[in-house]
Amino acid sequence: DQIEKGGYDHFMLKEIHEQPKAITDTFRGRMLHEEKIIKMSSIENHLDKFLNANRIIIVACGTSWHAGLVGEYLFEDMARIPVEVEYASEFRYRNPIITNKDVVIAISQSGETADTLAAIKLAKSKGAFVYGVCNVVGSSIARETHSGAYTHAGPEIGVASTKAFTTQITVLTLIAMKLGEANGSLAKHTFENYISKMQLIPRQVEELLKIDDKVKEIAEVYKDAKNCLYLGRGFNFPVALEGALKLKEISYIHAEGYPAAEMKHGPIALIDENMPIFVIATNRGHYEKVVSNIQEIKSRAGKIIAIVTEGDTTVKEIADHVIEIPDTEEALTPLLTTIPFQLLSYHIAVMLGKNVDQPRNLAKSVTVE
Ligand code: G6P
Repeated sequence: DQIEKGGYDHFMLKEIHEQPKAITDTFRGRMLHEEKIIKMSSIENHLDKFLNANRIIIVACGTSWHAGLVGEYLFEDMARIPVEVEYASEFRYRNPIITNKDVVIAISQSGETADTLAAIKLAKSKGAFVYGVCNVVGSSIARETHSGAYTHAGPEIGVASTKAFTTQITVLTLIAMKLGEANGSLAKHTFENYISKMQLIPRQVEELLKIDDKVKEIAEVYKDAKNCLYLGRGFNFPVALEGALKLKEISYIHAEGYPAAEMKHGPIALIDENMPIFVIATNRGHYEKVVSNIQEIKSRAGKIIAIVTEGDTTVKEIADHVIEIPDTEEALTPLLTTIPFQLLSYHIAVMLGKNVDQPRNLAKSVTVE
């Protein structure tokens, strides 16, 4: 067991630290940095399906659904293709409108989730083209889809998904870039700039993992909280949802993720001095608006832990704690902002003595309804 954990105390921590390599493996053979091209035969062979699609419907569950939500922002921003993201369990039972002009992307780490598999079968029966993004090679979903891409994250043992999430986002980013380039939505220089910035991500994640001690200090301060709020906007709204899910899953602390601007429609009522609020405030994503959300929290005595871009000065003055991420394009920030949240949940769960790798009531893969 110790050998399998590679010297780490838990699989989850090992898997968090494997992310620079996992993301690099996901790039391999697909993103050719020198040539500035993206090669994905699974997309190229079916390019007409994607480019002529009325819309893309993403179906998934759990963390994979959060990756799908990042996918929606990426696809619409980079490739200008309308996207809907559906919980597989809802999609399959709500008599959805699916035609042969729809492309369905199913995302699943295990490739065995019953609801996602059923959603795929339904979409196929209605004539949709179904593309899979799976981690486990040869899994049921990989076999059931018309085409797809593996995430190449390697085995993920910890029930709380970490490297599967970031590699799913990596694959979705590459697809969005590829489609945006193919249909002309992304100008050549923008596309090439994204490739250069993507190439830096594994090293930036590596850098970010070094803040572990700082995250541990923050975990120590907030580990006894009963409720936490996670806020983000744009590309980082799904990261807020995923941050909250990670905390719930392994520490059993109630946490909610919310779009920062929606705070005023409900969650703001919860804010008092006992409420830690994790806010993603990267410098290019609606920064001023998030800063004003932070001020609103502060004036209600909420505790603010902010994720900011390195060199930030404004938020630093208001927040109780800040965690800096390296600079990148806003569309790529989810690959970075998610890392501190993973570490934070991990440390809180360890401090509370919880079973990090096998939290109560949860399964790595839900193969029954
Ligand atoms: C379970 C796991 C989650 C996972 C979800 C979807 O709930 O505990 O970590 O995100 O299933 O699994 P999948 O394998 O389809 O990504």
